[in-house]
Amino acid sequence: MTGLNTSKTILITGASSGIGQALAERLAADGHEVLLVARSSEKLRVIVCGIKERGGHSHYMAADLADKNGLDALVGAIKQKYQKIDLLINNAGIGWYGHFAQMPWDTAQSLVLTNMLALVKLTHAFLPDMITRNEGQIINISSIAGDLPVQGVILYASSKAFVNNFTKALAREMTGTKIKITLVKPGPVLTNFYNHANESNGYHIPGESLGITVEQASRTIIKCIGSSRRVVYVPGYFAFMPWVDRLLGPVIDRLGPMIIPADKKGGVY
Ligand SMILES: NC(=O)c1ccc[n+]([C@@H]2O[C@H](COP(=O)([O-])OP(=O)(O)OC[C@H]3O[C@@H](n4cnc5c(N)ncnc54)[C@H](OP(=O)(O)O)[C@@H]3O)[C@@H](O)[C@H]2O)c1
Repeated sequence: MTGLNTSKTILITGASSGIGQALAERLAADGHEVLLVARSSEKLRVIVCGIKERGGHSHYMAADLADKNGLDALVGAIKQKYQKIDLLINNAGIGWYGHFAQMPWDTAQSLVLTNMLALVKLTHAFLPDMITRNEGQIINISSIAGDLPVQGVILYASSKAFVNNFTKALAREMTGTKIKITLVKPGPVLTNFYNHANESNGYHIPGESLGITVEQASRTIIKCIGSSRRVVYVPGYFAFMPWVDRLLGPVIDRLGPMIIPADKKGGVY
């Protein structure tokens, strides 16, 4: 259950699978009106049908967040359909595993646009109304990778480091208001993220064996709703993560090439 007493309008990006889907289904079951966004319209349609069959209220809008025009059109369509968004969950994200020099430019560009620009754009679109109403919440899904600039996930980790700083600074700007800004940093969660990487590479990303279930992750994220906590690690024991690079940087320098040899082919996840 969330910390919200009344039904709210909730926008979730990346809701066609994994963490976003689980959040959408749970929040709709709790009586909230949920708008699901992702590229795969058929997957979204099926999820929304399931929610409606169970008595929930939800809609979907298919959009490619890496497409500037698509993003502008999405914001316009949401503003036309909904009077307000009470909770924005910026969850959509992609990663890529492999050495940066081997990363195709199109993939690099999509990653930057999806993980950073779309999050900034949606925040910029819906925050002013929250400020006018002096209520609302934005939850940005980052990653423990944002604390760890490690070989093999350079651009992904950097995009999440951006999300970390953006979100923490925004929370500071909202001091003195009733608007809650929450940064969520999951560790490994068993979703399509890993399936995609395994399909394209045929080998496993380090950390996958430590993965928690989507249900565990979404339960913890839902507890952040209505809470004033600014940074939440999922699971909580990953709170040591910011210290790893500071204390073990030289060890990571040496271990990195064993984890991701330069000849490994990269893949999207
Ligand atoms: N799984 C993990 O171990 C883990 C750990 C830390 C943080 N995270 C973060 O958690 C978030 C959710 O990931 P997940 O694990 O649930 O992975 P997932 O199952 O692959 O979900 C990613 C979601 O993002 C959507 N998406 C990707 N690119 C998009 C685009 N250009 N436009 C619109 N939607 C797009 C995907 O939908 P479509 O393909 O239909 O567009 C999908 O719904 C991500 O931000 C990820 O970085 C995951």
